[in-house]
Amino acid sequence: MSVPASHTEEHPLNVRGPARPPTPRRRPRALGALAALALAAGTALVAVQPAAAATAARVDNPYAGATTYVNPDWSALAAAEPGGDAVADEPTFVWLDQIAAIEGDSEKRGLREHLDTALDQGANLVQLVVYDLPGRDCAALASNGELGPAEIGRYESDYIDPIADILDDPAYASLRIVTLIEPDSLPNLVTNAGGTAGSTDACATMKANGNYEKGVGYALHTLGAIPNVYNYVDAAHHGWLGWDSNLVPAAQEFKKAATTSGATVNDVAGFIVNTANYSATTEPYLKITDSVNGQTVRQSKWLDWNQYADEQTFAQGLRTALVAQGFDSGIGMLIDTSRNGWGGSARPTAPSTATSVDAFVDGSRTDRRIHAGNWCNQSGAGLGERPAASPATGIDAYVWAKPPGESDGSSKAIDNDEGKGFDRMCDPTYTGNGRNGNSMSGALADSPVAGHWFSAQFRQLLANAYPPVGSPGGGDTRAPSVPAGLKVTGTTAASVSLSWSASTDDTAVTGYDVYRDGTKVTTTSATSYTDPGLKASTAYAYTVRAKDAAGNVSAASAAVTGTTAASGGGGGTGACAATWKANTWSGGFQADVTLKNTGDRPLTAWKATFTVPSGTVVTNAWSATVSVSGTTATATHVDYNTDIAAGGSVSFGYQGTGTYAAPTSVTVNGQSCALS
Ligand code: BGC
Repeated sequence: MSVPASHTEEHPLNVRGPARPPTPRRRPRALGALAALALAAGTALVAVQPAAAATAARVDNPYAGATTYVNPDWSALAAAEPGGDAVADEPTFVWLDQIAAIEGDSEKRGLREHLDTALDQGANLVQLVVYDLPGRDCAALASNGELGPAEIGRYESDYIDPIADILDDPAYASLRIVTLIEPDSLPNLVTNAGGTAGSTDACATMKANGNYEKGVGYALHTLGAIPNVYNYVDAAHHGWLGWDSNLVPAAQEFKKAATTSGATVNDVAGFIVNTANYSATTEPYLKITDSVNGQTVRQSKWLDWNQYADEQTFAQGLRTALVAQGFDSGIGMLIDTSRNGWGGSARPTAPSTATSVDAFVDGSRTDRRIHAGNWCNQSGAGLGERPAASPATGIDAYVWAKPPGESDGSSKAIDNDEGKGFDRMCDPTYTGNGRNGNSMSGALADSPVAGHWFSAQFRQLLANAYPPVGSPGGGDTRAPSVPAGLKVTGTTAASVSLSWSASTDDTAVTGYDVYRDGTKVTTTSATSYTDPGLKASTAYAYTVRAKDAAGNVSAASAAVTGTTAASGGGGGTGACAATWKANTWSGGFQADVTLKNTGDRPLTAWKATFTVPSGTVVTNAWSATVSVSGTTATATHVDYNTDIAAGGSVSFGYQGTGTYAAPTSVTVNGQSCALS
């Protein structure tokens, strides 16, 4: 892995290599959305369209409702550490970091074996890192790879093609396969290949020969042709690309690579930030808009005029810039939260009261690094958010891309046969790098070669986890069960009300943390909460975690969206209540729905949106037009029930195949409905 560059560096656009002729590709099958037309009044059921093939449909967010593969190789290493069993069941990415990793060996299973094991586990989502570009890790030495800068041909034929052949096997068609494409490569072209202070000759070579862009384009194109693959491109982190002068050129560079070697933007499901880095997901006590004594915190040494103070706001800002470059408006972001927890005794518990900008920022930030450019085996770091789907707006998931406990690089030169070098940013005594202002590297001592197990680091990560995972080595380390059944029970123009089912625990659940868009808004001992002070007509994503007295915290619940009602119109709320009744039978179901307008204004030309399990196919419907795309269903009025008067209601129904589950959230005309 590599280093960020300072924002002061230039980032001229790359010299582009000759265009490759597009390679023949397998086309993804069409999405399986089915519009079942509304029928005449009454309850007569008539099938209007055949069922679409559920297996081929790419869903909007592959993590929503997924069961993710736990890599038993990593899991065994984690579980063997004291207290490690508390997190050993977390899903981590499988790194295909050399050609030999595709086959595997006696110590690490190969790709097929991982996929087979995933099926055995009953998982339906597998996470892979594609990481073997020619001239890999050009701005650093610790993760240099096996392929020389010119070996693009071998990359394509000996690495990407064999991976694609395996992933395309129909035996794995039921798996959603998430691929993380080539960490650090394109960001290095943006900031470290321009002949400036932060640049390296190796990155200049990769920029000149175009092999990073060709390789990434080839990987996107070849893997993107497989219908159940979801490509996420690596997009560094806020301490690297968080200045607009880097962010916009980065978005352009991503677009360029995603349209090289036959790839198109449609081969990209999204982007990942913070891969193998340590930047905090959210900074609860430090916002980029804060000022101290009239001075913006952006001018602090730590933030150095960055436009972002944490990864989540960066990911959301970058997403907007990517869509502006022409990426699909449905792209989602991932955040690697494996090692950005920053818990333990050094963690601030409130904003600093200091009155100078630097002292305020240093006292308020949870990221305790010496410099935001430090990246190797950071001292003081902890495990971050446990993997979770849909944690905030625009974010598909928090993931553990870097398996915690695997080294970032060796603290001294160590012979190896993987092409890995010795980067002094992994040496705790080093102060010679301009990119971190010549400060200390912050690395732990006695670390092994990148990717090798580093027991002392794992133990530190566990001890400093945030959210905490309990006390390693003894006492109560079991987290409560994940809160189930989270739903929106009502909305006004300024509030969203939620309820969920109680969690269980081996000792006792002491409370619940409620998160709005990834930020904790309250801790409550109840199983319901009304979130006040919100903006009208706005969608908010909520999750809940359960806690026990020992500080163990559950993973986040599935997210629900609460949309506040429109304001104005004489204070009318126009919100609604929905009732779902179902009959189910083997492989099918019938749902009868009533929507009631509980507001004081009509809901005109009503359109309801609600969640359905993945694989749901609607075969017919009455008194509404019902269609399904992935895990979202839409029901639209028909000509005889266009409006729902204030206090009035409409009923409709539908039949379908697949597993039935009552929706977890329903909106009508964009407003959340209370569910019963
Ligand atoms: C290493 C890879 C390793 C990965 C995950 C990288 O820094 O270069 O060999 O698989 O980290 O630990």
